[in-house]
Amino acid sequence: MNERDIFLRHVGQTSQNPLLLHIDRAEGIYLYDVNGRRYIDLCSGVSVSNLGHRHPVVVKAVKEQIDRYMHLMVYGEFVESPQVQYAKLLIDNLPHNLNSVYFVNSGSEAIEGAMKLAKRYTGRHEIISFWNAYHGSTQGALSIMGDLDFTRAFRPLLPDIRRLDFGVEEQLDQITENTAAVVIEPIQSEAGVLIPSKQYMKALRHLHFVQHLDILQLLEGILCRRRLVKLH
Ligand SMILES: Cc1ncc(COP(=O)(O)O)c(C=O)c1O
Repeated sequence: MNERDIFLRHVGQTSQNPLLLHIDRAEGIYLYDVNGRRYIDLCSGVSVSNLGHRHPVVVKAVKEQIDRYMHLMVYGEFVESPQVQYAKLLIDNLPHNLNSVYFVNSGSEAIEGAMKLAKRYTGRHEIISFWNAYHGSTQGALSIMGDLDFTRAFRPLLPDIRRLDFGVEEQLDQITENTAAVVIEPIQSEAGVLIPSKQYMKALRHLHFVQHLDILQLLEGILCRRRLVKLH
């Protein structure tokens, strides 16, 4: 069996029609297959390789790190220089009230942690999310997903989830003192790059800061970096 056949037979696939590109190497914006054919990579590892493949600065940092140590401890127990420096870089670029970084492995895990934090902090359990939202594929993340076709097979999921139409200000009154958190993508990505008005995001903030509902707003997303910073 060649590797393509082994892939088809023994590697889990996410669709009936995998792309089946047999990748030899990747460089910058290009993928090269085993036949030397070059492709422009518009996936970029689903935005993970967003500096381009094998960026020399990244490769150098990885090599230097591997020569010192690899995995030591998953929880916040040891002072590990790369982690500490990264936390400092993030905090230096965030509003002053966002001053603690909890490192996780994936977007789904971040959402799980954020939902748990909101419940523990507020003592409430209702979570508000939005139709068409995408938050990942673990069970908690699926519970707040906005497309029910993706979640049907996994029910029952978490209770006390309420979904609102994205960007519709009139529905924000459904956020109440029973709400632990509102999980929102400041720019909905999977839904097709939908950007709510500034007025809408301000109205959301208003609930917390002016109406004093003390709700956690979990701003989440892969397309919202600049926007997130501006909002605070
Ligand atoms: C907005 C958003 N949240 C969460 C996730 C889930 O991230 P992961 O696949 O790393 O679990 C994604 C993935 O595309 C996403 O777009």
